Amino acid sequence: MPGKSGASIGCYMRTHLCAELDRSAVGQAVGLYGWVHRRRDHGGVIFLDLRDRSGRVQIVVDPENGDVFREAELLRNEYVLFIEGVVRLRPDGTTNPKMVTGEIEVVGTRLKVLNSSDPLPFQLEDEDVSEAVRLRYRYLDLRSDRMQSNLRLRHKAVSCLRRFLESRDFIDIETPMLTKSTPEGARDYLVPSRIYPDSFFALPQSPQLFKQLLMIGGFERYYQIARCFRDEDLRSDRQPEFTQLDMEISFTDEQEVIEISEHMIHGLFEEALEVVLPRPFPVISFSDAMSRFGTDRPDLRIPFELIEIADLMKEVEFKVFSEPAQKPGSRVVALRIPDGGALTRQQIDKYTDYVRQYGAAGLAYIKVNSVSSGRDGLQSPILKFLTDDVITLLIARTQAVDGDLIFFGADTASVVNDSLGALRVRLGHDLGWVSEEWCPLWIIDFPLFQWNQQTKAWDSVHHPFTSPRQSDIELLAEKPGAVIARAYDMVLNGTEIGGGSIRIHNADLQERVFETLGISKDESTNKFGFLLEALRYGTPPHGGIAFGLDRIVSMMAREMSIREVVAFPKTQKSACLMTGAPSVIESSQLDELSIIRRSISASVEHSN
Ligand code: AMO
Ligand code: AMP
Repeated sequence: MPGKSGASIGCYMRTHLCAELDRSAVGQAVGLYGWVHRRRDHGGVIFLDLRDRSGRVQIVVDPENGDVFREAELLRNEYVLFIEGVVRLRPDGTTNPKMVTGEIEVVGTRLKVLNSSDPLPFQLEDEDVSEAVRLRYRYLDLRSDRMQSNLRLRHKAVSCLRRFLESRDFIDIETPMLTKSTPEGARDYLVPSRIYPDSFFALPQSPQLFKQLLMIGGFERYYQIARCFRDEDLRSDRQPEFTQLDMEISFTDEQEVIEISEHMIHGLFEEALEVVLPRPFPVISFSDAMSRFGTDRPDLRIPFELIEIADLMKEVEFKVFSEPAQKPGSRVVALRIPDGGALTRQQIDKYTDYVRQYGAAGLAYIKVNSVSSGRDGLQSPILKFLTDDVITLLIARTQAVDGDLIFFGADTASVVNDSLGALRVRLGHDLGWVSEEWCPLWIIDFPLFQWNQQTKAWDSVHHPFTSPRQSDIELLAEKPGAVIARAYDMVLNGTEIGGGSIRIHNADLQERVFETLGISKDESTNKFGFLLEALRYGTPPHGGIAFGLDRIVSMMAREMSIREVVAFPKTQKSACLMTGAPSVIESSQLDELSIIRRSISASVEHSN
């Protein structure tokens, strides 16, 4: 039979995929391939769940069918089979509404074992199995419903994104893996060159420079599903190698990149999940986002925000508040938690410990029992420091109502933003305030540079090829911190899913930005000479964006970690538990690369 059921081996003819069978096939003789998902012996009758890529179907083998029955008795989980049989309706009362094929079963008439299987180290659908075991035997884990569905969703997403971009005239062009460093803020993975001793390739942190060179090369609209490599500290939404949907456009501006991206992500959710994202996505400036949410990737599903109260606290007796209220670069904010009055002393202590991790010195609070009772209706260790007027203004500013709790943060802006920004999200989750909606948004008007306390130099907030706003170019030398970038990030439910910018397309401006970053002429020539040269040959104005594909798909699959949507991911410690990579290599290989071994570190298996 042509079509999805595909090829057959010799005389074992596959007619259907398991989950294609339903009541319309009753009475038909069918041939199926697959794995024994489960085998049950029911007083003489053997039931098998046979699984293939489409799903499962129940097979029944009767003792009357002597040869087949004897074979079926020897079957164990994960044996690989060919089965012929006849489809029948399940007897009344034995249908299984949980299975797609739950109304029917196949009565086995011929059975061929194509391969046996050792007992599995874990049960495929066991939700308690540790991630280390799953990753060690990833090829088995991939057989689970969860991984099958996640990777199929990933494929569907990629296919949908490709179709959209091709409909908008983008073409897919590959860029090199063995290249020079592309700075995206992480450490490089390096590959030693055998032919040039002491020289190394860097694996790309992104295709950034190549996509700009493709614009100089005249392609105008490029995209790529590109693998990127970054040696950085890992988290649940970071992998050392990950995949970007990378795009670049010539003769464009912020509006067009935003319009195309928004259409694409909107279409993706509609097609793959039947979710209609609210359009247009809200646009929030970086400085508003920091002041309202303490972060440049706000989760808009949570309905409370940081409220500025420094102006109310300048004169209060409580130094913890009045000092930062008067100091430039510091903040005093309130965070009103609806119904937070129910929090116990113990819970508040737990949240106080939580904000301490972010550098906060404490977590003052006021419980609002009864607004109409004024001071007497409030409960807090800091009330004694606040005048009635301040209290009245505070209640009005926060719009607190009976039953609420107000938390406070007072410190340098960065400590307040980090600690209360994180507290907002934590409380949103703990107290059930995260709405079911999807909340996409854009962040724009980022600063171009940020001051690095350790190196005492300016760093790029995005990367050094991002264009400053035209009107800010003259600030480059004198006030780099005030320069606004032509950059934009897309955020979804508190995760940065994409980021990009309009680029510098003028060699002189690019050199000035390198200078501000403290990159000397020699260093810029050495690292980016090819780009500076290329920029002098009629570079079109251009810009683009890259989306974190793993992040988008993990959110679509409602997974907490991007590892769940990567076929063969690395652990939190950047190792592959299945292959044992990275591994110590032979001295002869090192010799060829002119590398001298300093020490032999523990192998991956031992260190994880
Ligand atoms: P950026 O560094 O913001 O931009 O990366 C784009 C998107 O990639 C995702 N991402 C990651 N996903 C998983 N693991 C990681 N370690 C990781 N790092 C980043 C994020 C992020 O939004 N060249 C620029 C893009 C441009 O300017 O066009 C770039 O790489 O979702
Ligand atoms: P103290 O007077 O130090 O006991 O602090 C009184 C209250 O203020 C306690 O609830 C502390 O947790 C809180 N607190 C102390 N420092 C800060 C701060 N920087 N920001 C917010 N609350 C604070």
